[in-house]
Amino acid sequence: MQTNLITKPLTLNHFCSVESLSQEEVMSLIIRAQEFKHGATWSNNKNLYAVNLFFENSTRTHKSFEMAEKKMNIDVIDFEVATSSVNKGETLYDTVLTMQALGINVAVIRHGDNDYYRELIESPTIHIPIINGGDGSGQHPSQSLLDLMTIYEEFGYFKDLRVAIVGDLKHSRVAKSNMQLLKRLGAKLYFSGPEEWYDPSFEEYGSYQVIDELVEHVDVMMMLRVQHERHIGHEHFTKEEYLSNYGLTVERANRLVEHAIIMHPAPVNRDAEMAGDLVECDKSRIVQQMTNGVYARMAILEAVLNH
Ligand code: CP
Repeated sequence: MQTNLITKPLTLNHFCSVESLSQEEVMSLIIRAQEFKHGATWSNNKNLYAVNLFFENSTRTHKSFEMAEKKMNIDVIDFEVATSSVNKGETLYDTVLTMQALGINVAVIRHGDNDYYRELIESPTIHIPIINGGDGSGQHPSQSLLDLMTIYEEFGYFKDLRVAIVGDLKHSRVAKSNMQLLKRLGAKLYFSGPEEWYDPSFEEYGSYQVIDELVEHVDVMMMLRVQHERHIGHEHFTKEEYLSNYGLTVERANRLVEHAIIMHPAPVNRDAEMAGDLVECDKSRIVQQMTNGVYARMAILEAVLNH
């Protein structure tokens, strides 16, 4: 089924959480994503169908999965939550069971409930692979894979790389997936942002510092989006206050070491998490992250469809 294959194909039942991924599996996915980026192709002689079920808003994850599917000649079946029977009360389980019955081969799902995927992957009646496109404030494993791919492209290693994860740590699924995987790969982690958004459970992964103590000492400055949709009724800061106290200002960016890079999963709240003009600056890898998302998601789709 594979063409131009350099690495041995990885096989995964599902791709829902980074917790179950070994270091070898992560590196295999990164290398395969790089191969796709450099022109490897995947074709299949079966008719394969994917459905992307997005119960929360998305631009990058949704459209880069769709792009990855189309590059792999997988037919994408349209599904709009707003016009589906979800609005008649149909559950996620019944929606996925229906998709499977129609002949869908893989479902990519974003949902607001943490761990929504467990009832699907533990069900004796759901047999198609489930890819998690983000669950509440739980995990965002495909974002984590594209982030790691971007870091690996830059540095070629993870061991002892100094990575700061800065911002809305408590509500960020990106932060949680990245802290777990980066620690497993040997990176040194630092956290920053409002202290009320720091949780003591993060201490097993790294240490908290104020941003002004961090900027001169890190290789990767990973900024996080303020998750306004998860703070309803608890807005804490104006944009100006947030940028000035916790964000990456131009002055702070000028203090980064020469080889340091700036990352952000996007969408960026310009002039809140970071000065707006830094999105396109020389140190920024934010656009590259979006591009890498297509190739990382091709590697994930291949791994679950190899099963
Ligand atoms: N980074 C990310 O998940 O972006 P979307 O919400 O646009 O998919």
